[in-house]
Amino acid sequence: MRVDIKKVTERLEELYSCGRREDGSCSRVACSPEDIKGRGKFIGYFKKLGIEPTIDKAGNIIARLEGNNAELPSIIIGSHLDTVPNGGKYDGALGCVAGLGICEALIESGRRLNHSLEIIAFTDEEGARFGNGMVGSAAFSSIPPDFADSDVDIYGMTRGEVYKAFGISTSTLAQAARPAGTVRCFIELHVEQGASLDKKKVPVGVVSFIAGVKRYEITIHGEPNHAGSTLMADRKDALAAAAKFISAVPEVVSAYGREYTVATVGTIKVSPGSVNVIPGECVFGLEIRDQSAKIINLIEERLKIILGQFSGKCTYSFRQITSHAPAPMTEWVRSSIMESCVKLGYACLSMPSGAFHDSLLISSVFPTGMIFIPSVGGISHSPLEFSTESDMEKGCDVLFQTVLTIDSKIS
Ligand code: HGY
Ligand code: MN
Ligand code: MN
Repeated sequence: MRVDIKKVTERLEELYSCGRREDGSCSRVACSPEDIKGRGKFIGYFKKLGIEPTIDKAGNIIARLEGNNAELPSIIIGSHLDTVPNGGKYDGALGCVAGLGICEALIESGRRLNHSLEIIAFTDEEGARFGNGMVGSAAFSSIPPDFADSDVDIYGMTRGEVYKAFGISTSTLAQAARPAGTVRCFIELHVEQGASLDKKKVPVGVVSFIAGVKRYEITIHGEPNHAGSTLMADRKDALAAAAKFISAVPEVVSAYGREYTVATVGTIKVSPGSVNVIPGECVFGLEIRDQSAKIINLIEERLKIILGQFSGKCTYSFRQITSHAPAPMTEWVRSSIMESCVKLGYACLSMPSGAFHDSLLISSVFPTGMIFIPSVGGISHSPLEFSTESDMEKGCDVLFQTVLTIDSKIS
């Protein structure tokens, strides 16, 4: 029994094209019409298998293949279908489509597992719209929302109106919480999104630790004024202060961070935004990640100090949007994945994940493991993201073998 890798490739293409836009880019940003189209496509695949997926109060799509023993907790495979703007074909979708392929192989072979198998596509993992991510997996993991309906997204829409149109509500997310004792383990197959496996030519990564992440919204308040008649000494230029701060971020990371410490400013808004007006306000998004929460907090403190230094006559606010601690993967799940690689004769590498994933939160409540496959050139969150069919096939084999191994060990 193997996952049909040709169907995996085909389905990844189909999902990717659900996000095609006039400018040729492809995005399925959470809760967008393109995301809804991709979700419909994914649900359709299961319906063709005779499985009717359900959608929980967080919008998570849950497809369930009954096992022989309803008393046993479910083995769950999952990831996410939403993407960053103009993202890649594999990030998130691979884990979802691989789970579908395992259901398909089991049904076609007539093999029934002891445990029920659930495939879950979690809502808004990327957090590209509102700044925080993992909305569906947080609700699933009984983690209360750290946001408000009044939050405004990158398109100027409020969370409340976006969620209403999408069919969920901040006030009922908690109803998606998964009761303890109902999950044997959660396993996520994902592209590495970094270059380690590709550089070392190793086909499988077994994730040891997922980096923690803190995201902030920084606002610098200056004074809009005439660009021609205001002397340099008289200005409160919000963008000039932001530019000095942003260009200093890499130096702070190299001075106080470690090998896997990263900090990024990925969004910026300037107002009033006219070539002949001194910027009065600048709002930008910052995130800091590391395998250690202590390091993340140290970088945050150092960045707050330099913001004070570079803000000059401007005032500023440094608002935390979201914070998720780093998490180790579950030892026995990790070793089951390693065991599968040995059984299949695939070389594998134990490695941390710099990217966060739904597994980051789920690991706080259920036994969790992650399988990586190489991202060619280490590229991700880009239309240039690419993984070979042969590596995808190995990743699906390891995922499938791990499910079969865990299913055979009825505790
Ligand atoms: O941003 C991340 O680490 C993930 O791809 N959502
Ligand atoms: Mn992802
Ligand atoms: Mn991503």
